[in-house]
Amino acid sequence: MPDLARRYYFLLSLIAILGILVSATRVGAQDAKQPWMDKSLSPAERADLALKQMTFDEKLALLHGNGMANNPLWTMPRTPFTNGGAGYVEGVERLGIPPLIISDAAYGVRDSGVNGRYATAMPSNLGAASAWDAQSACEYGEVIGSELRAQGFNMTLGGGVNLTREPRNGRTFEYAGEDPLLAGTLVGSMMKCEQAQHVVGDIKHYVMNDQETGRFVVNAIISKRAMQESDLLAFHIGIDIANPGAVMCSYNRINGDFGCENTYTLHDVLKKDWAFPGFVISDWSGTHSTLKASAAGLDQEQPMADYFGPKLKEAVQAGQVPMSEIDDHARRVLYAEFLSGVVDNPPQKGVVDAAKGLDVAQRVEERSIVLLKNNQAALPIDPWKVRSIAVIGGHADVGMISGGGSAQVDPPGGNAIMPAGKGATYWQEHIWFPTSPLKALRAKLPNTRIEFDAGTDLQSAANLAKNSDLAIVFADQWLAEDMDLPSLSLPDNQDALIEQVAAANSRTLVVLETGTAVTMPWIDKVAGVVEAWYAGSAGHKALVNVLVGDVNPTGKLAITFPKSENDLPRPAIAPLPKEGQGLASGNSAKHISTYTIHYDEGPEVGYKWYEAQHKQPLFPFGFGLSYTTYAYSGLSVDSAAKTVTFTIKNTGNRAGTEIAEVYARLPKGADESFKRLAGWKRVTLAPGESQTVTISIDPRALQTFNEANNSWNFAPGNYAVFVGSSSESTPLIGSLTVR
Ligand code: BGC
Repeated sequence: MPDLARRYYFLLSLIAILGILVSATRVGAQDAKQPWMDKSLSPAERADLALKQMTFDEKLALLHGNGMANNPLWTMPRTPFTNGGAGYVEGVERLGIPPLIISDAAYGVRDSGVNGRYATAMPSNLGAASAWDAQSACEYGEVIGSELRAQGFNMTLGGGVNLTREPRNGRTFEYAGEDPLLAGTLVGSMMKCEQAQHVVGDIKHYVMNDQETGRFVVNAIISKRAMQESDLLAFHIGIDIANPGAVMCSYNRINGDFGCENTYTLHDVLKKDWAFPGFVISDWSGTHSTLKASAAGLDQEQPMADYFGPKLKEAVQAGQVPMSEIDDHARRVLYAEFLSGVVDNPPQKGVVDAAKGLDVAQRVEERSIVLLKNNQAALPIDPWKVRSIAVIGGHADVGMISGGGSAQVDPPGGNAIMPAGKGATYWQEHIWFPTSPLKALRAKLPNTRIEFDAGTDLQSAANLAKNSDLAIVFADQWLAEDMDLPSLSLPDNQDALIEQVAAANSRTLVVLETGTAVTMPWIDKVAGVVEAWYAGSAGHKALVNVLVGDVNPTGKLAITFPKSENDLPRPAIAPLPKEGQGLASGNSAKHISTYTIHYDEGPEVGYKWYEAQHKQPLFPFGFGLSYTTYAYSGLSVDSAAKTVTFTIKNTGNRAGTEIAEVYARLPKGADESFKRLAGWKRVTLAPGESQTVTISIDPRALQTFNEANNSWNFAPGNYAVFVGSSSESTPLIGSLTVR
């Protein structure tokens, strides 16, 4: 080898050796000999040990974000570290503390398209809540958690558990309905299993973020008692189950103070009363101060460092913020990292297990679909009798719609109803997945004549319906963050389409792809209604399985469907005050606003409101039909054990799973004129089979909150106990005594 080449190779080897040495020092910092790397210690102990090693600047770095990918306002370069997510928080490399690489992931990993990746869309969160199934919720969370990791993320921003106080809320599909026990249990179970995949878990938007109109400025006024017994209870149950690393505070104000600087909700309730050990992360640009927010309990500002960067540093140096407060914030972030396992098990990029995702998405959707009406046994479709089917509307020839905003999951191949090349970043676009129910139905029923009409010309749709044995109208309603619905009517003339088709063929079914409740002026004219929600990546297959009876529907509504908006606590969402009156400017929090919502209905959320106000809904909370029937009998209540025991019989001729629901009403004198959901169980029964089941009553469903002494109490006396198939159909009534 010539001399020059020899020298060249020597130099290269030197560089390589140096490289190995440098990475060895890095690895050395993380090696198990460092006391905080000892896995036998608790996350809290490890966080304490690591914190002791950290400089002031290293602590501060944990307390704010560094931008957001794909967002022109908060630029964050898309590097292998930042990974194209919603947020990035620096770690402490020399101590082996990894950065937080954060992605939105409500019903699947967001922004996969723009990052050149694939993600499964699970059914919408509200849809999945209709399964009333903690096990399905867990599998839902596992899929999302594992896909986050495969994409290189180690923190999720899923976990929405705001109650449906306002069904026109554009984010209703991201939440788990109107009942605190049901929503808290399901979101908690989902996030527990998601975090178990070694991603930092999150529950949001804490709290009272119940409409999108004016979300950055609105002041939600509600009594502490009502908030504790409803909205806060949902969070508490969810947090208890999931033990998430993080809780995201909300944009809105609560009784005057913003969610991210609210001493009552953050310090007093979350951190003191509930002893939440993780960190509070602000919603994106939801931080409004340094001293106030830090003292109230905000730990990490996102996505920038407007208040928790240089300003926080100066405040500490000026003695305005004690170092103990910084330590507390930083310790909580460290705790979440040790707790979730992102320190010991950093994400490994890989190919998402698409087959598994599709499998789970289909099973969850099969449990989420709610059969709302089924006259003349129109369903399941009997291919021996039904020789021709008219499929109408909803772009059913192409796919199924999904929910937008930061929850949006990108469909493979781009938006199924958009021209090619439109790009893959979506904010407020109507996005269809390429999950065509028409194609799935044709594949399932190859010997049936199945024709499609787009539904844009009502007469043509009616003609096709008239010449078919069965008509199925697909109707959709699109929702997204940053908007509310003007009403619960189906948009785009779809009510008229359904009326016209139903007039042409009495065997008309409606399949709803909606993110929240809809009104149904045509309900008496159609033979059946199936609520499929936003059905996810395998929704078409799940739906068709239900339509033909390969799957017997089991879902029950997690929200009430009202007859009309006039029956809601607020018939209309109050408009934002206009500019020029010295009030708010759009949704911008930079302007002080007098925009206020008074939640005077207090704890009467959803079904509780309808019962207390004696209003008959269109479909009650907890309602859903099956292709079989069930009978309830023989209730006994054990007051000491707080359990109810009864028998359910499958009185039809198909196997099925019934969700048996237990409600309780507080004793007279407790000043409550509604039932509270107190427990439920999914019971699978063969035709003719009976089962005696015992369900525990959740004590939290029996208690009231006393504002004066900040305590929870049982009202003494007799609680009425109701058991049945929905909040309105409770054939078994008993009583439970609390002494
Ligand atoms: C939403 C959050 C979301 C965040 C980051 C906010 O606008 O309210 O739910 O996690 O953006 O995308």
